[in-house]
Amino acid sequence: MSNQIILPRVLQVGENASLEIPSILDSLGCTRPLIITDKMMVELGYAKQVQSCLKDHQINSEVFDDTVPEPTVSSIQAGVDTVRNGNYDSIIALGGGSPIDSAKAISILGKFGGEMRDYKFPRIVNEQGLPIIAVPTTAGTGTEVTRFTIITDETNDEKMLCVGVGFMPIAALVDYKLTLSLPARITADTGIDALTHAMEAYVSKKASPYSDSQAIAAMKLIGPNLRRVYHDGSDHKAREAMMLGSTLAGIAFSNASVALVHGMSRPIGAAFHVPHGLSNAMLLPAVTEFSIPSAEEKYADCARAIGVATQADSDDVANQKLIAELRALNDELQVPTPEQFGIDRQQFFDLMPTMAEQALASGSPNNNPIVPTAEQIIDIYQQLW
Ligand SMILES: [Fe+2]
Repeated sequence: MSNQIILPRVLQVGENASLEIPSILDSLGCTRPLIITDKMMVELGYAKQVQSCLKDHQINSEVFDDTVPEPTVSSIQAGVDTVRNGNYDSIIALGGGSPIDSAKAISILGKFGGEMRDYKFPRIVNEQGLPIIAVPTTAGTGTEVTRFTIITDETNDEKMLCVGVGFMPIAALVDYKLTLSLPARITADTGIDALTHAMEAYVSKKASPYSDSQAIAAMKLIGPNLRRVYHDGSDHKAREAMMLGSTLAGIAFSNASVALVHGMSRPIGAAFHVPHGLSNAMLLPAVTEFSIPSAEEKYADCARAIGVATQADSDDVANQKLIAELRALNDELQVPTPEQFGIDRQQFFDLMPTMAEQALASGSPNNNPIVPTAEQIIDIYQQLW
């Protein structure tokens, strides 16, 4: 049996990688890029920086900065119209997960039309939209190296998972220097998301020797550095490790899929507007505990890769240490419970059957070591209270 691995054509990794945008555009034969980003990137001067770097190479660019966190069908529409009415030959997606996910959707809808709903899973989107050069500024969603995007349908609060090589950026420029000014909260949320990607890819039923090697490498980078970047955002060495770890975790889960944490996390995010990394963090200890009995060795490998267990520890001991570590990490990174986040208990409990249904429909729980029933998913949701 063999596994097909899908990656961006170009990966530029390391300090100042983002300055290579002009040469990448040149290698693609592109001269009319649209920069898709958000207001924060404009305020921080990052968008200007990219534009002046392009200008130095005689490339004129325009900026679309109306992407929003947790993008929706209506939030991307103006971007689709911009692409439709402009004569762009490429997209530079600059920012955290949301601008890059928005850019992926805009690239496809801008070129092929239709509704986002038409492109959601189980359809596999192999069409090639405008080529995307992804420049992540968080570590991270890993979306710069995945063939996924998530767009919320605001009419029913469904987070639509869209899958296919059409959503894979043609190039990813992974520059840790862009993460140095990230606030601690976003650093923590995105960092736990990256850790979750690596763990879920590793225990996924779709894991392969290739994705395993990327996932383990990611956990070795993320495990010892997540607390460091949270406490000291200017720690270059730790930021660099987190950035590479996030990209490797992205490669791992793009090729092995995520599992139950993400399946259960998306409905919480859609219904209660909890940032993606935070809802993952809320779920990670409970879902790991639920799943360990069917993948004891693999979870023990995770514990050792993260650095909380040693080779001398039995799998059982390593797994106990893993659960303890995930809970301790949430405490130290001040991850709120749903209640502390301000979610209404009754509303959450009323919505649990719908959320369980949406989680199962996303397909992600099918990759979990233990494929849960709707009742088991509800049981795990209840444990968060
Ligand atoms: Fe994620």
